[in-house]
Amino acid sequence: MRVVPDYSAINRANWDERVPAHVASRDYAVERFARDPSFLSGVVSFDRPRLGDVRGLRGVHLQCHIGTDTVSLARLGARMTGLDFSGPAVAAARKLAAAAGADADFVEADVYEAPVVLGSGEFDLVYTGVGALCWLPSVGRWAAVVASLLRPGGRLFIREGHPMLWALDDALSDELVVAYPYFEQVRPVVYDSELTYVETDVRFSATRAAVWNHGLGEIIGALFAEGMRITAFEEHDSVPWNALPGQMERGSDGEWRLAEQPSRLAASYTLQAEKAVRTGQAASSRTGRAARRPGPGSSPARESPSKGGSRLHGGESSGRRVVRASSRRTFAAVTKTFRSRHDRRESITFPHAELGGAHHSRVGERLPECWSGLMA
Ligand SMILES: C[S@@+](CC[C@H](N)C(=O)[O-])C[C@H]1O[C@@H](n2cnc3c(N)ncnc32)[C@H](O)[C@@H]1O
Repeated sequence: MRVVPDYSAINRANWDERVPAHVASRDYAVERFARDPSFLSGVVSFDRPRLGDVRGLRGVHLQCHIGTDTVSLARLGARMTGLDFSGPAVAAARKLAAAAGADADFVEADVYEAPVVLGSGEFDLVYTGVGALCWLPSVGRWAAVVASLLRPGGRLFIREGHPMLWALDDALSDELVVAYPYFEQVRPVVYDSELTYVETDVRFSATRAAVWNHGLGEIIGALFAEGMRITAFEEHDSVPWNALPGQMERGSDGEWRLAEQPSRLAASYTLQAEKAVRTGQAASSRTGRAARRPGPGSSPARESPSKGGSRLHGGESSGRRVVRASSRRTFAAVTKTFRSRHDRRESITFPHAELGGAHHSRVGERLPECWSGLMA
């Protein structure tokens, strides 16, 4: 039997351990939500001019962490559900929502399971970002989840670290060096760190984590392929955390950007996309794509629509009935893929000795060969 590690369990342990430190940190300002009913997270404050009116929208926040952005969106009038695979994060988010008196509930689940847990076509708004996509091996599967969750006419709002930023060596304090893949790879970059991105004295023991980059063309192409229409796209020279320590400084807007010539770096982007209400021609092309969709044995990298170049497909329109049928196919495909991977994991032994204990990798160390098996 081939022994394959469970990247999801490794990453979850890493996130579980960060939660108390994040709740206690100044950066997340958790206690301000209870004290000040008008307080919003820095992330949602940045997004607010782009978000438009969210009052009355049924929203889901994927990878909601401790709920500060979810609660902020609820404060802007959306009825929010937050989803995260970390039990402690979900518990902290529930506590925050109760203290803040916010209209938000939370579920503990993997992103790829979201349509199974929350249902298909239920949401007007999918909100996500700021260190979310990098934890997912396939942006194609993520886009299928987003499209499945949205009702026709519903929209995605994402602000995320730019793939150009994720490709840089963040251990260097005096130069910008491209050290990691820009394009999605089957194998993650694995790193080992006792630290986190907020100010804290806590040093962590679940130090290992696996991350994946996704190129802009891959992200946009994956959304097009799911029948989403891009309605807004902006690149920003800033991020809401100190992503390149030693090279960034905090501005009066609370955002971090390069201290010298910030115009050199696209540090983050915001993207909005709408699920088509009508998709005429696209119905047959999407049906064709669904038929060609690789099965569970295929590589997610090959699943990505833009492998071998960033080819973008236009989002055309067709009838509501067809979109719903197509959503069901997407939902079925996502569920089938997830279930089969999940089942395989259950019968797999986790090679603890190889990944933890005495073995310590450096930032950017490649996964042992066997890791790729989970995604292969
Ligand atoms: C950096 S936080 C992003 C959230 C938000 N930007 C914030 O700072 O509050 C990343 C979150 O993704 C969650 N996460 C990572 N992989 C996940 C997965 N496969 N399914 C669900 N949640 C996941 C982690 O538990 C963590 O809470």
